[in-house]
Amino acid sequence: MPRLLVTGGAGFIGSNFAHYVINNSDYDVIVVDKLTYAGNRASLADLPEDRLTFVRGDIADARLIDDLVGNVDIVVHYAAESHNDNSLDDPRPFLHTNLVGTFALLEAVRKYGKRLHHISTDEVYGDLAFDDPNRFTEATPYNPSSPYSSTKAGSDLLVRAWVRSFGVAATISNCSNNYGPYQHVEKFIPRQITNVLRGLRPRLYGEGRNVRDWIHADDHSSAVMTIIEKGRIGETYLIGADGEKDNKTVVELILTLMGRPPDAYDHVADRPGHDLRYAIDSTKLRTELGWRPSFSNFEHGLAATIEWYRKNEAWWAPAKGATEAFYARLGQ
Ligand code: NAD
Ligand code: DAU
Repeated sequence: MPRLLVTGGAGFIGSNFAHYVINNSDYDVIVVDKLTYAGNRASLADLPEDRLTFVRGDIADARLIDDLVGNVDIVVHYAAESHNDNSLDDPRPFLHTNLVGTFALLEAVRKYGKRLHHISTDEVYGDLAFDDPNRFTEATPYNPSSPYSSTKAGSDLLVRAWVRSFGVAATISNCSNNYGPYQHVEKFIPRQITNVLRGLRPRLYGEGRNVRDWIHADDHSSAVMTIIEKGRIGETYLIGADGEKDNKTVVELILTLMGRPPDAYDHVADRPGHDLRYAIDSTKLRTELGWRPSFSNFEHGLAATIEWYRKNEAWWAPAKGATEAFYARLGQ
């Protein structure tokens, strides 16, 4: 069977991707993950051992990565420091993993002539005004705002340079905000759901007018599989599901779905440099490769996600205390 190396496969989107691949294809999956605070081995616990191999390690460890890449067919690179608020508190790990780690992977796929798909974010394009009629496309100039998004932008540029200079067979995708199971409680939607489950009030940064373009993690996975199978080498594809919502609307919906008054939340200190709005135009992926999202109803996807957190307190509870202590220090 062909073998996929999934970096960061114990994180939110990587673990959803490992489930998606094993349930929908013949690929065997090898996950390499450092198990930082964001990684959780339990997110892969229900996957069959004959299809999934787990290796704990750092993607910046060139010797380890050389060994792993030499023994697989395709590398799908999810591993990253991924949280903006953390990058504002301490940018250093973002440079290590997102830049040095990506460099180590690129050198290994170059040496062995392996196919790479690099996972990136819409945040590399900066933000849009609320009333801008345009959305991000593959032609939008890079303009990242935070230490997180600037290191992701840097990693994309490294991939592009290795394609052009060394002929590495890579594709890149830039996706919008994901939601679904296995997302760390530091992120917006799981934080608010688990606050309500704990009897705490949701916390909205600033006025809550900022807009994010939500996509279910399974739709992100199906898009990545489509690009791996049909994408043109050297190309970038934007992934999005037309899910623009402002944060206030999302918090109110979570409260309503959980049977609470929609105004039972607190406004807290805003994020410094907070990007106003992200919005993806995924026409290229849809027309060239024929991809379509299957979660067309955000409210249904959110209700299923709430149910998942209700049933899986053992998965999220160990991280909740430290996460809220971090936010308390920031006044959030
Ligand atoms: P996450 O923080 O939940 O998971 C990241 C995983 O990478 C963790 O399991 C962590 O242990 C691992 N990791 C971190 N540093 C590592 C290192 N040096 N070596 C090996 N493993 C390491 O992140 P996520 O939300 O699942 O994001 C995954 C990828 O998708 C990232 O590249 C991110 O930029 C991108 N992305 C995320 C979103 C989103 O909405 N969350 C949207 C678009 C793109
Ligand atoms: O757009 C893709 C990006 O989406 C990914 O590249 C990142 O890895 C991912 O973390 C996410 O970035 P955001 O910064 O948009 O996500 P976050 O969940 O941190 O916040 C979403 C919005 O909610 C943002 O406008 C900030 C706001 N927020 C967040 C938290 C944690 C709140 O209002 N309250 C909160 O408690």
